[in-house]
Amino acid sequence: MEKEIKVGLLGCGTVGSGVYKILEQNATSIANKSGAKLTVAKVLVKDKSEELLVDVASDKLTDDFEEIINDQEIEIVVELIGGVHPAKEFILEALKSGRSVVTANKELVAKHGHELLITAREMGVDIYFEASVGGGIPIISPLKEDLAGNKITNIMGIVNGTTNYILTKMEQEGAEFSDVLAKAQELGYAEANPTSDIEGHDAAYKLAIVASIAFESKVDIDDIYIEGITGITKEDILYAQELDYKIKLLAIGKEDNGIEVRVHPTLVPIEHPLANVNDVFNAIFVEGNAINEVMFYGPGAGQMPTGSAVVGDIITAARNVNFSAQGRISCTCFEQKEVIAQKEVMSSFYLRLEVLDNPGVLGKITGLLGEHQVSIESVIQKGRSNDTVPLVLVTHQVKEGDLNAALEKIASLSDVKEVASLIRVEEY
Ligand SMILES: NC(=O)c1ccc[n+]([C@@H]2O[C@H](COP(=O)([O-])OP(=O)(O)OC[C@H]3O[C@@H](n4cnc5c(N)ncnc54)[C@H](OP(=O)(O)O)[C@@H]3O)[C@@H](O)[C@H]2O)c1
Repeated sequence: MEKEIKVGLLGCGTVGSGVYKILEQNATSIANKSGAKLTVAKVLVKDKSEELLVDVASDKLTDDFEEIINDQEIEIVVELIGGVHPAKEFILEALKSGRSVVTANKELVAKHGHELLITAREMGVDIYFEASVGGGIPIISPLKEDLAGNKITNIMGIVNGTTNYILTKMEQEGAEFSDVLAKAQELGYAEANPTSDIEGHDAAYKLAIVASIAFESKVDIDDIYIEGITGITKEDILYAQELDYKIKLLAIGKEDNGIEVRVHPTLVPIEHPLANVNDVFNAIFVEGNAINEVMFYGPGAGQMPTGSAVVGDIITAARNVNFSAQGRISCTCFEQKEVIAQKEVMSSFYLRLEVLDNPGVLGKITGLLGEHQVSIESVIQKGRSNDTVPLVLVTHQVKEGDLNAALEKIASLSDVKEVASLIRVEEY
Protein backbone atom coordinates (compact mmCIF):
# COMPACT_ATOMS: atom_id res chain seq x y z
CA MET A 1 0.00 0.00 0.00
CA GLU A 2 1.49 3.33 -1.11
CA LYS A 3 -0.35 5.86 0.96
CA GLU A 4 0.45 6.45 4.64
CA ILE A 5 -1.57 8.66 6.99
CA LYS A 6 0.13 9.83 10.15
CA VAL A 7 -1.67 10.13 13.46
CA GLY A 8 -0.77 12.20 16.51
CA LEU A 9 -2.00 10.65 19.77
CA LEU A 10 -2.63 12.99 22.71
CA GLY A 11 -2.59 10.93 25.90
CA CYS A 12 -1.56 7.32 26.38
CA GLY A 13 -3.56 6.23 29.42
CA THR A 14 -6.30 3.57 29.43
CA VAL A 15 -7.93 4.44 26.11
CA GLY A 16 -4.82 5.85 24.41
CA SER A 17 -2.93 2.60 25.00
CA GLY A 18 -5.92 0.59 23.73
CA VAL A 19 -5.97 2.66 20.54
CA TYR A 20 -2.22 2.18 20.08
CA LYS A 21 -2.59 -1.59 20.57
CA ILE A 22 -5.50 -1.95 18.13
CA LEU A 23 -3.75 0.11 15.45
CA GLU A 24 -0.74 -2.23 15.75
CA GLN A 25 -2.61 -5.55 16.16
CA ASN A 26 -5.07 -5.01 13.31
CA ALA A 27 -2.77 -2.91 11.11
CA THR A 28 -3.30 -4.81 7.85
CA SER A 29 -7.07 -4.98 8.07
CA ILE A 30 -7.22 -1.31 9.16
CA ALA A 31 -5.00 -0.27 6.23
CA ASN A 32 -7.24 -2.16 3.80
CA LYS A 33 -10.33 -0.48 5.20
CA SER A 34 -8.79 3.00 5.33
CA GLY A 35 -7.07 2.82 1.95
CA ALA A 36 -3.87 3.93 3.69
CA LYS A 37 -1.39 2.64 6.21
CA LEU A 38 -2.12 4.36 9.55
CA THR A 39 0.97 5.17 11.59
CA VAL A 40 1.10 6.75 15.03
CA ALA A 41 3.87 9.26 14.44
CA LYS A 42 3.89 10.96 17.86
CA VAL A 43 2.42 10.34 21.30
CA LEU A 44 1.90 13.19 23.74
CA VAL A 45 2.52 12.27 27.39
CA LYS A 46 2.95 14.37 30.52
CA ASP A 47 6.26 12.85 31.45
CA LYS A 48 8.42 10.95 28.96
CA SER A 49 9.95 8.82 31.72
CA GLU A 50 6.56 7.48 32.89
CA GLU A 51 5.89 3.81 32.26
CA LEU A 52 3.14 3.27 29.66
CA LEU A 53 0.71 0.37 29.25
CA VAL A 54 2.11 -0.21 25.73
CA ASP A 55 5.60 -0.15 24.21
CA VAL A 56 6.04 3.10 22.34
CA ALA A 57 9.43 3.85 20.73
CA SER A 58 11.07 6.64 22.72
CA ASP A 59 11.57 8.83 19.63
CA LYS A 60 7.76 8.96 19.21
CA LEU A 61 7.17 10.29 22.72
CA THR A 62 6.84 13.99 23.35
CA ASP A 63 5.72 16.12 26.26
CA ASP A 64 5.21 19.15 24.03
CA PHE A 65 1.97 19.52 22.04
CA GLU A 66 3.66 21.98 19.67
CA GLU A 67 5.85 19.14 18.41
CA ILE A 68 2.70 17.39 17.21
CA ILE A 69 1.01 20.44 15.72
CA ASN A 70 4.23 21.47 13.97
CA ASP A 71 4.70 18.04 12.41
CA GLN A 72 3.21 18.75 8.98
CA GLU A 73 2.98 15.04 8.16
CA ILE A 74 0.40 14.44 10.90
CA GLU A 75 -3.10 14.59 9.37
CA ILE A 76 -5.24 13.19 12.20
CA VAL A 77 -5.03 14.19 15.86
CA VAL A 78 -6.58 11.88 18.47
CA GLU A 79 -7.35 13.50 21.83
CA LEU A 80 -7.44 11.08 24.77
CA ILE A 81 -6.19 13.15 27.69
CA GLY A 82 -9.72 13.91 29.01
CA GLY A 83 -11.06 16.99 30.84
CA VAL A 84 -11.88 20.36 29.30
CA HIS A 85 -8.51 22.12 29.48
CA PRO A 86 -6.12 21.86 27.73
CA ALA A 87 -8.00 19.30 25.59
CA LYS A 88 -10.23 22.02 24.10
CA GLU A 89 -7.30 24.27 23.16
CA PHE A 90 -5.41 21.32 21.65
CA ILE A 91 -8.41 20.25 19.56
CA LEU A 92 -9.17 23.78 18.35
CA GLU A 93 -5.54 24.28 17.35
CA ALA A 94 -5.53 20.95 15.50
CA LEU A 95 -8.78 21.77 13.64
CA LYS A 96 -7.66 25.29 12.79
CA SER A 97 -4.44 23.91 11.36
CA GLY A 98 -6.47 21.67 9.01
CA ARG A 99 -6.20 18.38 10.92
CA SER A 100 -9.16 16.09 11.48
CA VAL A 101 -9.74 15.18 15.11
CA VAL A 102 -11.02 12.13 16.96
CA THR A 103 -11.87 12.35 20.66
CA ALA A 104 -13.51 10.24 23.38
CA ASN A 105 -13.99 13.24 25.66
CA LYS A 106 -17.65 13.33 26.75
CA GLU A 107 -17.28 16.30 29.09
CA LEU A 108 -15.66 18.43 26.41
CA VAL A 109 -18.10 17.41 23.65
CA ALA A 110 -21.09 17.94 25.97
CA LYS A 111 -19.91 21.40 27.00
CA HIS A 112 -18.23 22.67 23.81
CA GLY A 113 -19.17 20.25 21.04
CA HIS A 114 -21.04 22.90 19.07
CA GLU A 115 -18.01 25.18 18.89
CA LEU A 116 -15.75 22.28 17.90
CA LEU A 117 -18.15 21.11 15.17
CA ILE A 118 -18.56 24.62 13.77
CA THR A 119 -14.78 25.09 13.71
CA ALA A 120 -14.35 21.75 11.92
CA ARG A 121 -16.99 22.74 9.35
CA GLU A 122 -15.35 26.12 8.74
CA MET A 123 -12.03 24.37 8.20
CA GLY A 124 -13.54 21.59 6.03
CA VAL A 125 -12.17 18.90 8.33
CA ASP A 126 -13.75 16.27 10.58
CA ILE A 127 -14.31 15.84 14.27
CA TYR A 128 -15.56 12.42 15.39
CA PHE A 129 -16.47 11.41 18.95
CA GLU A 130 -18.12 7.97 18.84
CA ALA A 131 -16.41 6.80 22.06
CA SER A 132 -17.75 9.74 24.07
CA VAL A 133 -21.09 7.92 24.57
CA GLY A 134 -21.40 4.24 25.39
CA GLY A 135 -17.67 3.43 25.14
CA GLY A 136 -17.45 0.62 22.59
CA ILE A 137 -21.13 0.78 21.57
CA PRO A 138 -21.82 2.47 18.23
CA ILE A 139 -24.49 5.14 18.75
CA ILE A 140 -23.27 8.52 17.40
CA SER A 141 -22.60 7.18 13.93
CA PRO A 142 -25.89 5.20 13.76
CA LEU A 143 -27.80 8.33 14.82
CA LYS A 144 -26.00 10.53 12.28
CA GLU A 145 -26.01 8.02 9.42
CA ASP A 146 -27.96 4.76 9.59
CA LEU A 147 -30.97 6.20 11.45
CA ALA A 148 -30.82 9.62 9.76
CA GLY A 149 -34.02 8.89 7.83
CA ASN A 150 -36.01 8.79 11.07
CA LYS A 151 -37.58 11.39 13.23
CA ILE A 152 -36.33 10.26 16.65
CA THR A 153 -38.95 10.57 19.38
CA ASN A 154 -37.26 8.83 22.27
CA ILE A 155 -33.70 7.98 23.25
CA MET A 156 -33.14 6.26 26.60
CA GLY A 157 -29.93 4.81 27.83
CA ILE A 158 -28.07 3.06 30.58
CA VAL A 159 -24.89 4.97 29.85
CA ASN A 160 -22.95 4.69 33.10
CA GLY A 161 -21.42 1.31 33.91
CA THR A 162 -20.55 2.13 37.54
CA THR A 163 -24.12 2.94 38.55
CA ASN A 164 -25.53 0.01 36.59
CA TYR A 165 -23.09 -2.30 38.38
CA ILE A 166 -24.12 -0.88 41.78
CA LEU A 167 -27.87 -1.19 41.09
CA THR A 168 -27.43 -4.72 39.69
CA LYS A 169 -25.52 -5.85 42.81
CA MET A 170 -28.02 -4.17 45.15
CA GLU A 171 -30.75 -6.15 43.41
CA GLN A 172 -28.90 -9.48 43.21
CA GLU A 173 -27.42 -9.39 46.72
CA GLY A 174 -30.09 -7.42 48.58
CA ALA A 175 -27.31 -5.05 49.66
CA GLU A 176 -27.35 -1.37 50.55
CA PHE A 177 -25.95 1.32 48.24
CA SER A 178 -22.96 2.28 50.42
CA ASP A 179 -21.79 -1.35 50.83
CA VAL A 180 -21.95 -2.05 47.10
CA LEU A 181 -20.20 1.25 46.28
CA ALA A 182 -17.32 0.33 48.60
CA LYS A 183 -17.01 -3.10 46.93
CA ALA A 184 -17.16 -1.53 43.44
CA GLN A 185 -14.31 0.81 44.42
CA GLU A 186 -12.29 -2.16 45.68
CA LEU A 187 -12.81 -3.99 42.37
CA GLY A 188 -11.97 -0.92 40.29
CA TYR A 189 -15.53 -0.55 38.89
CA ALA A 190 -15.96 2.78 40.68
CA GLU A 191 -13.48 5.63 40.95
CA ALA A 192 -11.99 6.73 44.27
CA ASN A 193 -14.10 9.87 43.79
CA PRO A 194 -17.32 8.43 42.34
CA THR A 195 -19.34 11.68 42.45
CA SER A 196 -19.65 12.23 38.69
CA ASP A 197 -20.98 8.69 38.23
CA ILE A 198 -23.30 8.26 41.22
CA GLU A 199 -24.72 11.78 41.06
CA GLY A 200 -25.60 11.31 37.36
CA HIS A 201 -23.29 13.96 35.85
CA ASP A 202 -21.38 11.50 33.64
CA ALA A 203 -24.69 10.20 32.24
CA ALA A 204 -25.86 13.79 31.69
CA TYR A 205 -22.79 14.60 29.54
CA LYS A 206 -23.63 11.63 27.36
CA LEU A 207 -27.32 12.57 27.20
CA ALA A 208 -26.45 16.14 26.13
CA ILE A 209 -24.47 14.66 23.21
CA VAL A 210 -26.99 12.08 21.96
CA ALA A 211 -30.07 14.24 22.56
CA SER A 212 -28.52 17.10 20.56
CA ILE A 213 -27.98 14.72 17.65
CA ALA A 214 -31.28 12.86 17.98
CA PHE A 215 -33.44 15.99 18.22
CA GLU A 216 -31.29 18.18 15.92
CA SER A 217 -31.15 20.89 18.56
CA LYS A 218 -28.32 21.88 20.90
CA VAL A 219 -29.05 20.56 24.38
CA ASP A 220 -27.07 22.36 27.06
CA ILE A 221 -25.87 20.35 30.01
CA ASP A 222 -27.58 22.95 32.27
CA ASP A 223 -30.95 22.13 30.66
CA ILE A 224 -30.76 18.54 31.87
CA TYR A 225 -32.57 17.55 35.05
CA ILE A 226 -30.11 15.37 37.01
CA GLU A 227 -30.73 13.05 39.95
CA GLY A 228 -28.24 10.34 40.98
CA ILE A 229 -28.69 6.96 42.67
CA THR A 230 -27.48 7.78 46.20
CA GLY A 231 -31.05 7.80 47.59
CA ILE A 232 -31.96 4.33 46.26
CA THR A 233 -32.45 1.79 49.03
CA LYS A 234 -32.69 -1.99 48.99
CA GLU A 235 -36.35 -1.63 50.11
CA ASP A 236 -37.14 0.29 46.91
CA ILE A 237 -35.44 -2.35 44.81
CA LEU A 238 -37.48 -5.10 46.52
CA TYR A 239 -40.77 -3.23 46.11
CA ALA A 240 -39.93 -2.53 42.49
CA GLN A 241 -39.36 -6.27 41.98
CA GLU A 242 -42.70 -7.05 43.61
CA LEU A 243 -44.33 -4.65 41.12
CA ASP A 244 -42.44 -6.27 38.18
CA TYR A 245 -39.93 -3.46 37.65
CA LYS A 246 -36.16 -3.02 37.90
CA ILE A 247 -34.54 0.22 39.04
CA LYS A 248 -32.05 1.62 36.51
CA LEU A 249 -30.31 4.97 36.18
CA LEU A 250 -31.67 6.16 32.84
CA ALA A 251 -30.62 9.07 30.67
CA ILE A 252 -33.87 9.97 28.93
CA GLY A 253 -34.44 12.26 25.95
CA LYS A 254 -37.92 12.61 24.45
CA GLU A 255 -39.41 14.93 21.88
CA ASP A 256 -43.09 15.67 21.65
CA ASN A 257 -44.06 19.33 22.01
CA GLY A 258 -40.56 20.35 23.03
CA ILE A 259 -37.67 18.32 24.37
CA GLU A 260 -37.45 16.46 27.69
CA VAL A 261 -33.95 15.70 28.93
CA ARG A 262 -33.43 14.05 32.27
CA VAL A 263 -31.17 11.65 34.15
CA HIS A 264 -32.65 9.87 37.15
CA PRO A 265 -33.26 6.47 38.71
CA THR A 266 -36.25 4.93 36.95
CA LEU A 267 -38.54 1.96 37.48
CA VAL A 268 -38.28 0.04 34.20
CA PRO A 269 -40.84 -2.73 33.48
CA ILE A 270 -39.11 -6.14 33.49
CA GLU A 271 -40.24 -6.78 29.90
CA HIS A 272 -38.41 -3.64 28.66
CA PRO A 273 -35.12 -4.48 26.88
CA LEU A 274 -33.28 -2.02 29.17
CA ALA A 275 -34.40 -3.93 32.30
CA ASN A 276 -32.10 -6.81 31.41
CA VAL A 277 -28.93 -4.76 30.92
CA ASN A 278 -26.85 -5.72 33.94
CA ASP A 279 -23.50 -5.14 35.62
CA VAL A 280 -21.19 -2.69 33.86
CA PHE A 281 -22.92 -3.11 30.48
CA ASN A 282 -24.49 -0.12 28.75
CA ALA A 283 -27.39 0.08 26.31
CA ILE A 284 -29.16 2.79 24.37
CA PHE A 285 -32.76 2.29 23.30
CA VAL A 286 -33.95 4.46 20.43
CA GLU A 287 -37.44 4.97 19.02
CA GLY A 288 -37.90 6.52 15.59
CA ASN A 289 -40.93 6.95 13.35
CA ALA A 290 -39.58 4.56 10.72
CA ILE A 291 -37.42 2.09 12.67
CA ASN A 292 -39.97 1.75 15.50
CA GLU A 293 -37.45 0.64 18.12
CA VAL A 294 -33.83 -0.45 18.18
CA MET A 295 -31.38 -1.06 21.02
CA PHE A 296 -27.59 -0.81 21.04
CA TYR A 297 -25.96 -2.93 23.75
CA GLY A 298 -22.40 -3.60 24.81
CA PRO A 299 -19.39 -2.61 26.89
CA GLY A 300 -19.69 1.04 27.87
CA ALA A 301 -16.06 1.49 28.86
CA GLY A 302 -12.67 -0.18 29.05
CA GLN A 303 -9.35 0.01 27.26
CA MET A 304 -10.11 -2.14 24.21
CA PRO A 305 -13.88 -1.54 23.75
CA THR A 306 -13.41 2.23 23.94
CA GLY A 307 -10.30 1.90 21.77
CA SER A 308 -12.48 0.05 19.24
CA ALA A 309 -14.80 3.04 18.88
CA VAL A 310 -11.89 5.49 18.65
CA VAL A 311 -10.15 3.43 15.98
CA GLY A 312 -13.41 3.20 14.01
CA ASP A 313 -13.48 7.00 13.97
CA ILE A 314 -9.80 7.18 12.99
CA ILE A 315 -10.52 4.89 10.03
CA THR A 316 -13.46 7.07 8.93
CA ALA A 317 -11.34 10.21 9.25
CA ALA A 318 -8.51 8.53 7.34
CA ARG A 319 -10.85 7.48 4.51
CA ASN A 320 -12.02 11.07 4.24
CA VAL A 321 -8.44 12.35 4.20
CA ASN A 322 -7.62 9.74 1.58
CA PHE A 323 -10.50 10.73 -0.68
CA SER A 324 -10.32 14.46 0.16
CA ALA A 325 -13.86 14.20 1.51
CA GLN A 326 -13.43 15.77 4.92
CA GLY A 327 -16.27 17.75 6.47
CA ARG A 328 -19.01 15.42 5.17
CA ILE A 329 -20.81 15.06 8.49
CA SER A 330 -20.99 18.22 10.51
CA CYS A 331 -23.17 19.75 13.21
CA THR A 332 -26.76 18.51 12.95
CA CYS A 333 -28.32 21.02 15.37
CA PHE A 334 -30.47 22.71 12.73
CA GLU A 335 -33.01 24.26 15.11
CA GLN A 336 -33.11 25.50 18.69
CA LYS A 337 -36.03 23.68 20.31
CA GLU A 338 -37.53 24.43 23.70
CA VAL A 339 -36.54 22.22 26.64
CA ILE A 340 -39.59 21.49 28.79
CA ALA A 341 -39.30 22.45 32.48
CA GLN A 342 -39.21 19.40 34.74
CA LYS A 343 -42.37 20.43 36.63
CA GLU A 344 -44.29 20.23 33.31
CA VAL A 345 -43.00 16.75 32.40
CA MET A 346 -45.60 13.95 32.48
CA SER A 347 -44.57 10.71 34.15
CA SER A 348 -45.82 7.91 36.36
CA PHE A 349 -44.32 7.73 39.84
CA TYR A 350 -43.43 5.18 42.48
CA LEU A 351 -43.96 6.58 45.97
CA ARG A 352 -42.90 5.02 49.26
CA LEU A 353 -44.37 6.63 52.35
CA GLU A 354 -43.86 5.70 55.99
CA VAL A 355 -47.26 6.13 57.64
CA LEU A 356 -48.91 5.43 60.98
CA ASP A 357 -51.02 2.30 60.82
CA ASN A 358 -54.26 4.20 61.50
CA PRO A 359 -57.62 3.51 59.87
CA GLY A 360 -58.39 5.85 56.97
CA VAL A 361 -54.81 6.92 56.28
CA LEU A 362 -54.82 5.48 52.74
CA GLY A 363 -58.08 7.34 52.01
CA LYS A 364 -56.61 10.67 53.20
CA ILE A 365 -53.56 10.22 50.98
CA THR A 366 -55.44 9.13 47.85
CA GLY A 367 -57.89 11.99 48.47
CA LEU A 368 -55.10 14.58 48.42
CA LEU A 369 -53.58 12.95 45.35
CA GLY A 370 -56.97 13.03 43.60
CA GLU A 371 -57.34 16.76 44.36
CA HIS A 372 -54.18 17.26 42.28
CA GLN A 373 -55.23 15.03 39.35
CA VAL A 374 -53.06 12.13 40.53
CA SER A 375 -54.68 8.71 40.15
CA ILE A 376 -53.28 5.47 41.51
CA GLU A 377 -52.40 2.39 39.49
CA SER A 378 -51.27 0.07 42.29
CA VAL A 379 -50.80 -0.02 46.05
CA ILE A 380 -48.72 -2.22 48.36
CA GLN A 381 -49.37 -1.95 52.08
CA LYS A 382 -47.30 -4.16 54.37
CA GLY A 383 -47.79 -5.23 57.97
CA ARG A 384 -46.71 -3.35 61.04
CA SER A 385 -43.00 -2.52 61.47
CA ASN A 386 -42.35 -0.62 64.72
CA ASP A 387 -45.09 2.01 64.85
CA THR A 388 -45.12 2.87 61.14
CA VAL A 389 -45.92 0.89 58.02
CA PRO A 390 -44.59 1.39 54.50
CA LEU A 391 -47.19 2.42 51.96
CA VAL A 392 -46.10 2.01 48.35
CA LEU A 393 -48.10 3.62 45.54
CA VAL A 394 -47.61 3.71 41.77
CA THR A 395 -49.42 6.57 40.06
CA HIS A 396 -50.77 6.91 36.54
CA GLN A 397 -49.21 9.61 34.35
CA VAL A 398 -49.22 12.97 36.10
CA LYS A 399 -47.59 16.33 35.63
CA GLU A 400 -44.57 16.42 37.96
CA GLY A 401 -45.54 19.82 39.41
CA ASP A 402 -49.02 18.50 40.34
CA LEU A 403 -47.57 15.50 42.14
CA ASN A 404 -45.14 17.69 44.08
CA ALA A 405 -47.99 19.98 45.16
CA ALA A 406 -49.94 16.93 46.41
CA LEU A 407 -46.87 15.55 48.20
CA GLU A 408 -46.31 18.80 50.05
CA LYS A 409 -49.78 18.43 51.58
CA ILE A 410 -49.36 14.69 52.18
CA ALA A 411 -46.04 15.26 54.00
CA SER A 412 -47.80 17.61 56.44
CA LEU A 413 -50.44 15.01 57.46
CA SER A 414 -49.93 13.86 61.06
CA ASP A 415 -50.33 10.21 59.93
CA VAL A 416 -47.44 10.51 57.48
CA LYS A 417 -44.01 10.16 59.08
CA GLU A 418 -41.93 10.40 55.91
CA VAL A 419 -42.11 10.58 52.13
CA ALA A 420 -39.23 8.10 51.88
CA SER A 421 -38.90 7.67 48.10
CA LEU A 422 -40.14 9.21 44.91
CA ILE A 423 -38.95 7.50 41.72
CA ARG A 424 -40.18 8.04 38.17
CA VAL A 425 -41.64 5.08 36.30
CA GLU A 426 -41.15 4.43 32.57
CA GLU A 427 -43.91 2.48 30.83
CA TYR A 428 -43.36 0.08 27.89
N1 LIG B 1 -11.61 4.73 30.27
C1 LIG B 1 -12.70 4.48 29.59
O1 LIG B 1 -13.20 3.37 29.60
C2 LIG B 1 -13.35 5.57 28.77
C3 LIG B 1 -14.56 5.28 28.09
C4 LIG B 1 -15.14 6.26 27.29
C5 LIG B 1 -14.52 7.50 27.17
N2 LIG B 1 -13.37 7.75 27.87
C6 LIG B 1 -12.75 9.06 27.71
O2 LIG B 1 -11.47 8.89 27.13
C7 LIG B 1 -10.60 9.92 27.60
C8 LIG B 1 -9.37 9.28 28.20
O3 LIG B 1 -9.75 8.48 29.30
P1 LIG B 1 -8.76 7.42 29.96
O4 LIG B 1 -9.62 6.50 30.76
O5 LIG B 1 -7.85 6.85 28.96
O6 LIG B 1 -7.97 8.37 30.96
P2 LIG B 1 -6.53 8.12 31.59
O7 LIG B 1 -6.29 6.66 31.76
O8 LIG B 1 -6.42 8.99 32.78
O9 LIG B 1 -5.56 8.63 30.43
C9 LIG B 1 -5.32 9.97 30.17
C10 LIG B 1 -3.84 10.12 29.97
O10 LIG B 1 -3.57 11.43 29.47
C11 LIG B 1 -2.51 11.98 30.24
N3 LIG B 1 -2.62 13.43 30.20
C12 LIG B 1 -3.47 14.23 30.86
N4 LIG B 1 -3.24 15.52 30.57
C13 LIG B 1 -2.22 15.53 29.70
C14 LIG B 1 -1.52 16.56 29.03
N5 LIG B 1 -1.83 17.84 29.21
N6 LIG B 1 -0.50 16.21 28.22
C15 LIG B 1 -0.17 14.91 28.05
N7 LIG B 1 -0.80 13.90 28.64
C16 LIG B 1 -1.81 14.20 29.46
C17 LIG B 1 -2.70 11.39 31.62
O11 LIG B 1 -1.52 11.48 32.37
P3 LIG B 1 -1.60 11.46 34.00
O12 LIG B 1 -2.22 10.15 34.36
O13 LIG B 1 -0.19 11.62 34.40
O14 LIG B 1 -2.48 12.61 34.39
C18 LIG B 1 -3.06 9.95 31.27
O15 LIG B 1 -1.93 9.17 31.03
C19 LIG B 1 -11.43 10.75 28.58
O16 LIG B 1 -11.97 11.86 27.91
C20 LIG B 1 -12.53 9.81 29.00
O17 LIG B 1 -13.70 10.48 29.41
C21 LIG B 1 -12.76 6.82 28.65
